[in-house]
Amino acid sequence: MNLKMNPPGLSHLWVFITFTNKIKCEQIIPLTIVDKHLVLWKSQSGQLSLLDAYCPHLGAHLEKGTIKGEMIQCNFHNRKFDVNGICSGFGKNNPSYILQQVDNMIFAWFGDTAPTWEVPSFLKGFAGNDDSSEWKILKTKKLNYNFAPKDLLDNTVDPIHFKTFHKQCDNYKPIEIISKNHFCFISKATFIGHPSFTKRNIPFLLELVTESYGPTNLIVSATAKFLGREYYFKFIFLCTPKASINTDYTLSIAIKTKPKQKLSIPQRLFLFFYVREAFRIQIKEFRIESRNIWETKTYLENPDYFPQEQAMNEYNEWYKQFFIKDLTTKVKKIPIEA
Ligand code: FES
Ligand SMILES: [Fe+2]
Repeated sequence: MNLKMNPPGLSHLWVFITFTNKIKCEQIIPLTIVDKHLVLWKSQSGQLSLLDAYCPHLGAHLEKGTIKGEMIQCNFHNRKFDVNGICSGFGKNNPSYILQQVDNMIFAWFGDTAPTWEVPSFLKGFAGNDDSSEWKILKTKKLNYNFAPKDLLDNTVDPIHFKTFHKQCDNYKPIEIISKNHFCFISKATFIGHPSFTKRNIPFLLELVTESYGPTNLIVSATAKFLGREYYFKFIFLCTPKASINTDYTLSIAIKTKPKQKLSIPQRLFLFFYVREAFRIQIKEFRIESRNIWETKTYLENPDYFPQEQAMNEYNEWYKQFFIKDLTTKVKKIPIEA
């Protein structure tokens, strides 16, 4: 029977949980991530902790608990757990998850080993280079859809759909792979124009350097070359897989704050307009056009690539290392030194 398939589940990944300002001291937030029911909580002194939601005693949900100093107390029979899930007094410990705070974002590690990589700052550097630039998030939007992160991330290495689906470019070059290692895949797409940005059909060159950090975090460094000037901005796509294929998508757009771009007032206005418009189009695309494809498409173990889709083929192979079970061939993990 020809059934719709979803991509396999994910492992060995840092998942974006929330922004640091979204949780206060002595607050408990219930979450579902990669099919696990969890609680994120912050102690009185400000220590963050992510634990299994269900108390190991009789299974009460810790969301209904109380923070007592540096402990979370289950309010059914008053067992207490510290930030590492260690039970005080008699009783089993509660599994805890490793957290990493990067910039103003909190990530949690999901994998059956200790973390094998770290999340870099997404608000420093540009296009995969560790340069001195610093960035500030201008706008963030959170959406929830029934498709897997891979459906979204694949698009960055899909050269043909820019023309056939989004009708965004007059021509395209093959997508170039800049580098890859066991947790990061960097590629570059170049295309000309997006008439709807400028309304007057003035063509411009857009270079998108896309960095995937694990299977759920994507940074797009964009350089727009327009009327003899270059403008820079970044898209940050953070996928939080919840249950099965249901995923939260947190999309942000960032502008460069350091070193300051030397721009005249009209150029500043253009950049401001351009960045906002780019974000609006991205959200619209996400909400309507791409959603229709992503929510209904099936996962193919062996896609039938065009010759110019080599980068997509390589990305597909790279991505398989994060699948819990590889459905196709046995894929070796890309070594750390690569
Ligand atoms: S269920 Fe939590 S203490 Fe009994
Ligand atoms: Fe797309």
